[in-house]
Amino acid sequence: MSARPVCPVEETAVAPAPDWWQSAVIYEVYPRSFADGDGDGVGDLAGLIARLPYIAALGVDGIWMTPFQPSPQVDQGYDVTDYCDVDPLFGTMEQFESLLSKAHALGLRILLDVVPNHCSSEHPLFQAAVAAGPGSPERDMFHFVTGPVDMTDDDDAGSASGAASGGSIDSANDVPPNNWQSVFGGRAWSRATPGSATDTDWYLHLFSAGQPDWNWRNPAVGDYFDGVLRFWFDKGVDGLRIDVAHALFKADGLPDSPSTGGVVDGLRSNPQVSDQEDVHEVYRRWRTLAEKYEPHRLLVGEVNLEPARAARYTRADEMQQAFAFAFVKLGWDAEAWAAVGNELEAARQLHGAAPTWALENHDIVRSVTRFGGGELGSVRARAALVALLGLPGAAYIYQGQELVLPEVDVPVEARVDPMWARGGVCRDGARVPLPWTDDATMNHGFSLAGTAAEPWLPVPSGWGTHSVERQEQDPQSALNLTKTALELRRQLWKNEIFTANDGGSWRVEPGHLLICERNEHFLVAVAMGAEPVQLPAGTVLLSAVPLAEEGRLQPNNAVWVLRG
Ligand code: NOJ
Repeated sequence: MSARPVCPVEETAVAPAPDWWQSAVIYEVYPRSFADGDGDGVGDLAGLIARLPYIAALGVDGIWMTPFQPSPQVDQGYDVTDYCDVDPLFGTMEQFESLLSKAHALGLRILLDVVPNHCSSEHPLFQAAVAAGPGSPERDMFHFVTGPVDMTDDDDAGSASGAASGGSIDSANDVPPNNWQSVFGGRAWSRATPGSATDTDWYLHLFSAGQPDWNWRNPAVGDYFDGVLRFWFDKGVDGLRIDVAHALFKADGLPDSPSTGGVVDGLRSNPQVSDQEDVHEVYRRWRTLAEKYEPHRLLVGEVNLEPARAARYTRADEMQQAFAFAFVKLGWDAEAWAAVGNELEAARQLHGAAPTWALENHDIVRSVTRFGGGELGSVRARAALVALLGLPGAAYIYQGQELVLPEVDVPVEARVDPMWARGGVCRDGARVPLPWTDDATMNHGFSLAGTAAEPWLPVPSGWGTHSVERQEQDPQSALNLTKTALELRRQLWKNEIFTANDGGSWRVEPGHLLICERNEHFLVAVAMGAEPVQLPAGTVLLSAVPLAEEGRLQPNNAVWVLRG
């Protein structure tokens, strides 16, 4: 037994240093639209490597890359055939390793997307399941359910061979196991072997028919994903963004979803697939795994739930972050921002983790367009970005948000989004290649190899007016505003004006002035009404557009205020 110290040991009041991710701003890269290194019109790893200095110069802490693993690209890579490799469309594993070490040398962390809810219908384990037939252990890795014999010559593209349309329902026998709908539109079930009298199984796909859902009640699935996580963590990847993190488990027995008037809305309103309690065990296990590494790896969840439910995924032994989706969906409405802000703060107080803010990603209409479009929309998007970067917690920005890119109305014949093909909204408008140069040659600088095939999504005319090149030369540009905000944010963390204990106290003052008091020293104010309003007392550290009037804040402007 060790002797007791003779003198009492003084307790030091020094709080532990916050983990890096608590203050982080992460830049989302959608690789196929970021930079095209080989001139084939599709962005790739070589392009991203060449443009890493641009990302580092923004002043962000890291990059989240959406999937680049081998895939038939039915859902632009969210249909994976091999979780531990690189699709030749994007490059090679050597290039990924080089990207990782170059990013680290520039002080940028790398987060990858992991897609654990579903794989591609071309994944070898799904192919093996189809081949093995009804009742086999191979089929138990997925959700196969036997149905009545289907002798129709079904044109349901939703078959195990993979295409994406809803198909026809023209036989009395063509009745799927339950009423669940795909998030992309149409039913969530397709036949394993259409037209077969001996194999009458259906398989579940919450997204397109090319994306069969894994059966997480089979422990072999969990073991398989442990291997996937280890593979990337061993390589030195700093963290993972978890796709559809709240949908992995389905209610036992796969019961019908309660529906009104026959309408069942995909995932969100289907309690049988969304937010099942068993899913939390997965994230406890993944957190344990992430903490076996030094430094600990980060887990950030796509948990598209209301704040109180989403916060349960960031309890101390689960993920460190989950996106604040309630915030992502807001329009230009001070009262709604304050209500959601206070809900998120209440959730933080209950479960400890600060919100993870985002206004845009590759699935969502660009904020310029959501906030009114045109000049008005872009002024508001600047203000919203300034607000976002001042809020307590981590923030994610999506490539092009720093340029205040608008949503593009992609011509119907050029649209490729499977959600659009199945009758849902089209997400291509937020995925158009970035404009790097004013000049339209080389796809506005998107293609770097000296040759340039047509880009995978067409860019609209006038795209160069938003270009990086043009904005770098304009001191008042959104790009330079983003860099200034990120630099200031860093200093405020360094000077402990921003701390990991900050919470948000939100309110609306007369004239629709939105206030978020981060702590006793700092607040964010956004003028969301139609008239100028009184500026809160204190020193303005940052303004989205220059202040036009002493003591007043013009409509659609946002400021950071150091309180007196
Ligand atoms: C969310 C991803 O962000 C989206 O792009 C994808 O289509 C679905 N999950 C399915 O993986």
